[in-house]
Amino acid sequence: MKTMNALAVAAVAAMALSAGSAWARGDAAAGAKKAAEVCAACHGEAGAKPATPDYPILAGQPQDYLEHTLKAYKSGKRKNAIMAGMATPLSKQEIIDLAAYFSQQKGVQHKY
Ligand code: HEC
Repeated sequence: MKTMNALAVAAVAAMALSAGSAWARGDAAAGAKKAAEVCAACHGEAGAKPATPDYPILAGQPQDYLEHTLKAYKSGKRKNAIMAGMATPLSKQEIIDLAAYFSQQKGVQHKY
């Protein structure tokens, strides 16, 4: 019985640990690579200096917003011909990584 309890404690600890790492969502380094290859052409280096004012600043936008809106372009919920073409080929993981990367860049300042 004692062994069972120890196993249960270990299992709960392992779950807590993996939940802890899930909190820091996304691989910003992988996102940075993809961003430089694809997104920078319009949204500027690090998403901070778009090529024209029609292209939004991505740097510093909240991570969950970026993730949500990229999924919306991909699903067609948010309609924009350009971004549909950009978001459709992205995998779930690439979306999470890109959102992590852009949210960590200096750009839009939010005051809460
Ligand atoms: C050819 C130009 C172009 C490229 C390349 C491009 N975008 Fe965009 N992006 C746009 C335009 C234009 C909009 C505004 C669309 C709209 O009004 O919904 C936009 C909007 C967005 C938004 C919504 C921002 C907001 O404030 O709501 C996100 C997020 C985004 N792009 C991410 C990306 C990512 C990530 C990539 C690279 C995979 C990328 N874009 C590549 C042109 C581009």
